[in-house]
This record gives sequence, C-alpha cells and structure tokens, in this order.
Amino acid sequence: MTNPTVDPAFRKQQASQLQARKYQTRKERLLQTQELIEKEAQEKKAKQLIEKQKQESIAKDQRYRALDNVLRKRNNSQDALIEVLHHAQGSFGYLDDEVLEYVAHSLKLPLSQVYGVATFYHLFSLKPQGKHNCVVCLGTACYVKGGEKILTELEKFLGIKNGETTPDGNVSLLTARCMGACGIAPAVILDGEVAGKQNEDSVLTSVKELIANS
Ligand code: FES
Repeated sequence: MTNPTVDPAFRKQQASQLQARKYQTRKERLLQTQELIEKEAQEKKAKQLIEKQKQESIAKDQRYRALDNVLRKRNNSQDALIEVLHHAQGSFGYLDDEVLEYVAHSLKLPLSQVYGVATFYHLFSLKPQGKHNCVVCLGTACYVKGGEKILTELEKFLGIKNGETTPDGNVSLLTARCMGACGIAPAVILDGEVAGKQNEDSVLTSVKELIANS
C-alpha cells in the first residue's frame, strides 16, 4: 500500500495547497493594509474638514475679532495671558477648549500652560455649569440699550443671580463685557448662538423655549 506522505502526487498536492494558502494569506494582508490606509485617509480628510469648518466659524465670530484686538494691543505678549483670558471669558462667558487653544496658539504658549492658568484661578470658568447657557452682554453698547434690564428679568425668571445655575442644572446665567456684536446691541448668546437686538420679552421667550425643548 502506498504511503500517502511519500506519494509524490500527494506531496505535490500538499505543496500546491500550501502555496495557495500562502497566496490567500498574502492577499488578505494586502487587502487589510489597503483598507487600513483608506480608513486613515478618510479619517484624515474628515479631520481636515472639521478643522476647516472650525476655522471658518472662528473667522466669522466677532468675539474672536475682539480678542484679536486685545492680542494685537498687547503685541501677542505671553505676559498678557491672564489679561487675554480675562477678556475672552468676558466675551464668551466661559473658556472652552476652542478658546483656550486659540489663546495658546496666538501667544505661542503650550496649551498645558494656558490650561494650567485657566484652572488655577477661580475667576475663570471652563464650562457653563448648566445644560443651557445664557450669556447677557453688559458691554457699553448693550448696557445702554437695555442689557441690564434683560439680565434683571432673567434673574427674576430663573430665580438665580448672574454667574449661577438653576438648582435643576438646566440653565446657567452669565454676563460678558462685549461680545464684539455692538452693531446688534443689546446682544445675548443662547447656547452659543448670538441673538441681537433683544429685549426682556424676546430673551425670556427664547429661554422658555430652550427649557421647554430640553
Ligand atoms: S457691548 Fe455688547 S456686543 Fe459689544
């Protein structure tokens, strides 16, 4: 009886099966590598698109232009970090990641240092505490056109003071010194959306809508 392990035809068949398996494995690896490369390229493209959209929204945002003015006045000096953060907080109501990155980039400082300063001082807030946030501008243009009245009515309606959050954590009330939108004073920012030419009634209606839809 022929031993199949020494049978030349059997060995030839084994060798060709082995070869086919190797070829298949190589093909699969190549496909996997190709898929990985394509996935990375797509992720890179998506990141670039997000970055582009971010830059476009920053370019349109008047609060960043006001921040640029402060940076320019201080010659982008790193010594002006606290002043710049203070101004940014005044304009944005709080300092989110995007603002901190912008400041770090403008002052050529490591982001970690900017975060360190922003978290060290209690006067800086990195996040609005509530689910919704309402920033009332009390800069000169907004103040003379009724900004303070808007704030007073909001304080009454929400039952909290400026800088506080409602006990249910729903709304944070903040103020800004100037949001760079003086042309549409008085202005408020509701959940990041600038609303101009406001009065107590219009802001209260918008806040009530925010609460109702949350
Ligand atoms: S004073 Fe309110 S936007 Fe400038």
